[in-house]
Amino acid sequence: MKAPLSNTDTEPYATPSSVWRLRTDAWEYLGYAAKQLSSPSNSHAESKSGEKGLLIEVTRQLRVLEAVETYWAVPGKAHLLTLRARIEEGDYPAALSLIETVTRGFARFRHELDDSLAEADPDAEPLTQVVPAVADPRPRFEVLVIDDISETVREELIAEMASQRRESDAFTYQINVVPSLEDALIAVLLNPTIQACILRPGFGISARHRPGADLRKFLDGFVDPGISAVPPRERVLRLADMLKKLRPELNLYMVADVSIEELAGSANRRFTRLFRREESMELHLSLLRGVADRYKTPFFDAVQQHSRKPAAVFHALPVSRGGSVVNSRWIKDMGEFYGLNLLHAETSATSGGLDSLLDPRSTIRDAQVLAARAFGARRSYFVTNGTSTANKIVHQSILAPGDVVIADRNCHKSHHYALMLAGAQVAYVDAYPLNEFAFYGAVPLKTLKSILLDYRRAGRLDEVKMVTLTNCTFDGIVYDVERVMEECLAIKPDLVFLWDEAWFAFAGFHPIYRRRTAMAAAAALRANFEDPEYVARAKAQRAVLFDPETGEPADDSVWVENRLLPDPELARLRVYATQSTHKTLTALRQGSMIHVYDQDFSHLNEVTFNAAYMTHTSTSPNYQILASLDIGRRQAELEGYELVQRQAYLAQSVAQMVARNPLLKKYFRVLTTVDLIPEEFRETRRPMPLRDGIAAMDEAWRTDEFVMDPSRLTLHIGNTGVDGDTFKHKYLMDMYGVQVNKTSRNTVLFMTNIGTSRSAVAYLIDVLVKLAEHFDRERADMSPRALAARDSKIAELVASPPPLPDFSRFADSYRSCANTVDGDIRTAYFTTYRNNACDYIMPPELFARVRAGEEVVSAGFVTPYPPGFPILVPGQVFTMEILSFMAALDTREIHGFDPEVGFRIINQVPASVAGD
Ligand SMILES: Cc1ncc(COP(=O)(O)O)c(C=O)c1O
Repeated sequence: MKAPLSNTDTEPYATPSSVWRLRTDAWEYLGYAAKQLSSPSNSHAESKSGEKGLLIEVTRQLRVLEAVETYWAVPGKAHLLTLRARIEEGDYPAALSLIETVTRGFARFRHELDDSLAEADPDAEPLTQVVPAVADPRPRFEVLVIDDISETVREELIAEMASQRRESDAFTYQINVVPSLEDALIAVLLNPTIQACILRPGFGISARHRPGADLRKFLDGFVDPGISAVPPRERVLRLADMLKKLRPELNLYMVADVSIEELAGSANRRFTRLFRREESMELHLSLLRGVADRYKTPFFDAVQQHSRKPAAVFHALPVSRGGSVVNSRWIKDMGEFYGLNLLHAETSATSGGLDSLLDPRSTIRDAQVLAARAFGARRSYFVTNGTSTANKIVHQSILAPGDVVIADRNCHKSHHYALMLAGAQVAYVDAYPLNEFAFYGAVPLKTLKSILLDYRRAGRLDEVKMVTLTNCTFDGIVYDVERVMEECLAIKPDLVFLWDEAWFAFAGFHPIYRRRTAMAAAAALRANFEDPEYVARAKAQRAVLFDPETGEPADDSVWVENRLLPDPELARLRVYATQSTHKTLTALRQGSMIHVYDQDFSHLNEVTFNAAYMTHTSTSPNYQILASLDIGRRQAELEGYELVQRQAYLAQSVAQMVARNPLLKKYFRVLTTVDLIPEEFRETRRPMPLRDGIAAMDEAWRTDEFVMDPSRLTLHIGNTGVDGDTFKHKYLMDMYGVQVNKTSRNTVLFMTNIGTSRSAVAYLIDVLVKLAEHFDRERADMSPRALAARDSKIAELVASPPPLPDFSRFADSYRSCANTVDGDIRTAYFTTYRNNACDYIMPPELFARVRAGEEVVSAGFVTPYPPGFPILVPGQVFTMEILSFMAALDTREIHGFDPEVGFRIINQVPASVAGD
């Protein structure tokens, strides 16, 4: 029998993201050891020295668990004490049975323990938690009580709460008690099953067990050092704020026998409810109600109820109720494959508990309100045609023809199309290039500030309406959203921001990721703007930014070099985020959301938003997609933290494996922050912050202009001699069924998601090892000529390709001013509708004309795949730089180029307006 991996190199509860693994591994090791020790003929325990070795490791793992399990209610202290006693007595079969009750729970549902611990050992000391004798199908959670109480009082409290349970309760829960503020913070970080905390003013400050160095550092940066001087009542409020910062979804309750009426004002915002000690029944019901409030899914429930109601359909949608399918002789397999529930749930009704997406008044409205709460938005809207449509809705709702929008040139194509439809003047900004890997990073803040200052200098700042950026980028580069908005608002206080978070919906459910989401950043800025200390600092900075005499702004360099603070009295927070919920959380394909944090929404944008929403939304939106958004929100609120933490951890474990395995290292390298974020954008120097712990990640995510999403891995494959596209199709997909989405010439992007399991990760490593072996074998069998050809391909793939070109410029005729870069993409696009407005041109002639200085204007989007970014949009001019780049690309696919006839160009460019 093979020993499971033991975490000999990991200190107890080292980093929250790895504790779930540490915990399951420790229990699994104990199970393995107890089995060995129970059976005399086993290989390890046969000899005295073998038995001794096992017992040393068992003792060590028990110590780890005794520290870690402090933060879990189940299996609980009593279970561990009994286990230790059985091991010390040498009663290994009894120990094994105690361990197996725990590991069975892990096997059933990730690390969730089952409630049947009472079955474990009939002779064991009674467990303090009242647990049912058979596995309970109801969802269970844990409640954390924070109070420094004696063991007897603890037992009484647990027994009192347990006595409130009813068969009819929708959920079950167990209670754990920790004595201090630090223990409470550690518990909610480590134990994602905690859904509610009960704060009682008697708690202390320091953790009972010494936390590992990483957690210690994190706590030191998180807890105000002056907290012990704060009076107990105020301390409860501070702890509540800290818990909400880590896990805003938690229900917090305060139980205090002081006059709680006095606290009600300050506490209401933070607590779900305040209680006096004796009200345990009410507390029990509130705990259940608090979780039920996140569990509820108004629209998903309505769809289910509708599907169960008898109804006759005299309306559209023949598949409704399976009508056109179940009686068909030819398409019965549709019903068999999808199941009848899908067809029963299909309806075009908007009444009878269902609702209209275009004018939501009941269940869809309620589901959207819950989504807004979950994602920290003021309003949320469901979208059934993906973020491609969500982006168009937001752009159209904000921009009138002629408004200037600053947009990342690498933004998703839906933005380019949206801006063309809206008739905006688009000022594209360049992201920093990653030439070695042939893709782009993100747009530096200096670039954004500089372009805003260009418009101010040109006297056109009032025309700039909006900034559109992608966070995080496909490749996982994450902006400092709060800082970008803060500094841009200092230059233009009413700017609107659209953050395309197509790949970032999950980020709202992890304390460190969350800070870099649009909604959290907007809320943080709002809090800053209301903070007198911040207001004073901003005011002081105005004296530097403006000449006190004339009121004129200081030189642009002062604005670029200083970290700007907006004027809180002028700045408006108008922030939109679009998320492909379906890409990173549970939702059916195309399920997306728009989240809004716009202080001016109701008086400036609600009407135009509704009109834009009508423009782009089907009158027959897919109910299954909407219901999946509702239930995906439930999951995110109840287990998002656990899943996101795991996903990032799993990705890091792949990176570590690739870095350590000598065979994998020969062919593959996971690119790190050092590769993907130039030094000028980082203050921290760690290649993989999360690998070094939560404190290291926290530090990088607080300070660096850009950080990497640790749940994504860009694997450099240049040393295989195979390009990214071939690697994706021929090796990963065809040979091993591994799906990836994005490649560049020498990289492949692997993304983990909340559905990624440990076995999937193990499979991926296995596949990479097999591929490495394949490349090894292939090389060994190659003729000298083939080997030379392979080596030259490798040299080409690892060498820097031609530098990625900056975006070109709009033809003068589409620009409204010579000193600013924006262009009228809509006019350019519609020019092409006119008869004979366009021509096709083959590359040699194009080269010649551009070389001769002619302004040749593209009629369409030109996008080579990979890298997949448009290098020209309608109305922009071909440059030598762009043509040379395309000539050097070994790309098979260039959208916007037809090998038969060439590029489409505009041959009737209107008269120039630039410089007017
Ligand atoms: C940055 C970005 N925005 C928007 C989209 C479009 O999202 P959806 O597929 O949900 O329409 C994508 C798709 O890949 C994307 O990468």
